[in-house]
Amino acid sequence: MNPDHDVIVIGSGAAGLTAALTLAEHCRVLVLAKGHLSDGSTAWAQGGIAAVLDAGDNFDNHIEDTMVAGAGLNRRDVVEFVVENAPAAIERLAALGVPFNGGDLSLGERWHLTREGGHSHRRIVHVDDATGAAVQRALEKAAAAHPNITLQPDMVGIDLITGRHGETYSGAGNVWGLYAYNRATQRVETLTARATVLATGGAGRTYLFSTAPRGATGDGIAMAWRAGCRVSNMEFMQFHPTCLYNLEVKNFLITEAVRGEGGKLVNPQTGSHFMQYYDPRLELAPRDVVARAIDAEIKRYGLDFVHLDISHMDADFVRGHFPNIHDKLLGLGIDITREPIPVVPAQHYTCGGVMVDGAGRTDLPGLYAAGEVTMTGLHGANRLASNSLLECFVYGEAAARDIIARWDDLPAPPPIRAWDESRVTEPDEEVIVQHNWREIRRFMWDYVGIVRTTKRLERAMHRVNLLAQEVDDYYGHFRVTPDLIELRNLLEVARLIVRSALSRKESRGLHYTTDYPDMLTEARDTVLAP
Ligand code: FAD
Ligand code: SIN
Repeated sequence: MNPDHDVIVIGSGAAGLTAALTLAEHCRVLVLAKGHLSDGSTAWAQGGIAAVLDAGDNFDNHIEDTMVAGAGLNRRDVVEFVVENAPAAIERLAALGVPFNGGDLSLGERWHLTREGGHSHRRIVHVDDATGAAVQRALEKAAAAHPNITLQPDMVGIDLITGRHGETYSGAGNVWGLYAYNRATQRVETLTARATVLATGGAGRTYLFSTAPRGATGDGIAMAWRAGCRVSNMEFMQFHPTCLYNLEVKNFLITEAVRGEGGKLVNPQTGSHFMQYYDPRLELAPRDVVARAIDAEIKRYGLDFVHLDISHMDADFVRGHFPNIHDKLLGLGIDITREPIPVVPAQHYTCGGVMVDGAGRTDLPGLYAAGEVTMTGLHGANRLASNSLLECFVYGEAAARDIIARWDDLPAPPPIRAWDESRVTEPDEEVIVQHNWREIRRFMWDYVGIVRTTKRLERAMHRVNLLAQEVDDYYGHFRVTPDLIELRNLLEVARLIVRSALSRKESRGLHYTTDYPDMLTEARDTVLAP
């Protein structure tokens, strides 16, 4: 039992730390990470954060761009809420010490704003091409210095604690913390609190190729689903058009800002600037359009990759804007000031997730969620570039403020049963876990990728059902390990993605199926209820 904390935040990225810093003004907060504190996607973010900060821009433009990218499925009130709160979120980060690149002061520009696909204006504040690392550092420093925050790495959340885990059964549906595997002691701990915030990030690693870090296994989505929360729009998996193609470095992103600052996509076989054949917005069309165009070129010409070329720009400009990408690729033998970069699309962002309201509340009392784990209604059928860190800051704070406002109505946790290991033994066949990990990611890539068909989705569902029997059996007999916990979640999330994709009988945003190539007139969320 853990009587020392009022709220548990599961996740130490942008959403979790934002929530924790706001909560800590009023109560004691425990923040968990399943590995190191900075292992989430936040520290990997490159391009930046979208906000209306330019005199020639306005909220309506940002709202409109977000709705266009989202193919009409966004909730307008949510889009307005996030866009209108963006400038204040940036100010808070600057106050925490995030060193955003400065603009041209002679033109009255406080910060340099870069441009990304789908944005009609320059709107992205950034710290060179490694914005996320700077944000993560600043948030972690502030959280570590706060006396009301305890940061606890190496705790792998397994399942949320609900009424059925109480010493006496309660059907009230409240969430009172979680069971988590402590990597140091290799034991499962019972962590209780009045409120729990899920900020566990996305599920990119359900796919073989993903820009996301190793831990993006959709744990929060799976935990919330098992506890009884609705999950929505899981078919909308975003593929980033430009992930480095390199046989050793498999998931290095080449930021969209490279295209924003003039980079061109080229077919290496024909030399053509092929985006002209796909969309009048060329390289700055929304991501789904650019990723499908690259996929089509690769399939049509039998290519391994296409080229992204910024070598026509001044070398100092390229080095100055993209110092990290420049140095990383130089180390791999590619001088981006002189030669093109081989790129392929890769899974990048999970638009769907746990359904929350405008205050980050899930379906279960006491359980909140913020960041990539959620479906708020902001992104619709496709996320606009650099809107996701923004969503983490706005919803991380909104969830915390709601918990504070409702504090007196949140009941203290009842006595909870300890984790029962009496009927399991030590795992004896790790190969099953490793094999199934690989198999899920492979069939998701092959059958549930950028372009889908009903037949391939049905094949994927068949595989999910076969593996589920094996994984359930293994989970029921052996002591949990971090890999087994993640495998179980990966499979759960794969099932949710395939089910959602099968139920959408149209093509919209990121979900493109050749069996239903047209978009229906009515835009509807896919909502799965447990
Ligand atoms: P994360 O930052 O992913 O953090 C998740 C946290 O949850 C981690 O601390 C993890 O340890 C913890 N966790 C997970 N599971 C468990 C568990 N079972 N138990 C305990 N803890 C757990 N977005 C932008 O807006 N702009 C960008 O420029 C941008 N660039 C990107 C570049 C890359 C390469 C990638 C992968 C993404 C990028 N994104 C960008 C998306 C953005 O980074 C993410 O959507 C965002 O950082 C998610 O933040 P989060 O707080 O929700 O989760
Ligand atoms: C990028 O830098 O291209 C990623 C931006 C994002 O995912 O929002």
